[in-house]
Amino acid sequence: MKILITPEEISKRVAELGAELTEFYRGRDLTAVIILNGALFFGADLIRRIELPLQIDSFAASSYAHDRSTGILTVRAPQKLPVRDRHVLLIDDILDTGLSMQCAVTHFRELGAASVRSCVLMNKHIPEKCLASADWTGFHIPDHYVVGYGLDSEERYRNLPAIAVLDD
Ligand code: IMP
Ligand code: MG
Repeated sequence: MKILITPEEISKRVAELGAELTEFYRGRDLTAVIILNGALFFGADLIRRIELPLQIDSFAASSYAHDRSTGILTVRAPQKLPVRDRHVLLIDDILDTGLSMQCAVTHFRELGAASVRSCVLMNKHIPEKCLASADWTGFHIPDHYVVGYGLDSEERYRNLPAIAVLDD
């Protein structure tokens, strides 16, 4: 296992994103939606860097099985708070094919949100396979399977404080 992003680098970047989001959402009714489980720590850290009154919700969905995208998004637990006329910020761990994010954006638009934007910790940015882009990105990374800071492989490694590349 090779460390790709250290806890210090994560924390510095999260603070920068928090400052940008604070300026962007100032004066708007913001609902921050953490996409579980992968964005658990990223979302918790990021939201504490957004210095505005806001509502927090979560949305659990998955499109992966055995470290591969299945192409089908399964909603395991939907959001709980009403989002009509509110500005929704979806917070996710990583954009790979973008399928999960595209489905989540559509889902929240259909609920009548005033706007739906996304912030991801990492973006693998493979234009030919990516369906969605993010409005804010923490790190652009190479196309490797990564774990740690909330990201798993078969539910393992989520509690690593750093982001690491998993050897095959
Ligand atoms: P997408 O729908 O293909 O963009 O995949 C998005 C979801 O798959 C992410 O929110 C992660 O939960 C998971 N995922 C994609 N790539 C990785 C990875 O490298 N490590 C861990 N989880 C990943
Ligand atoms: Mg995810």
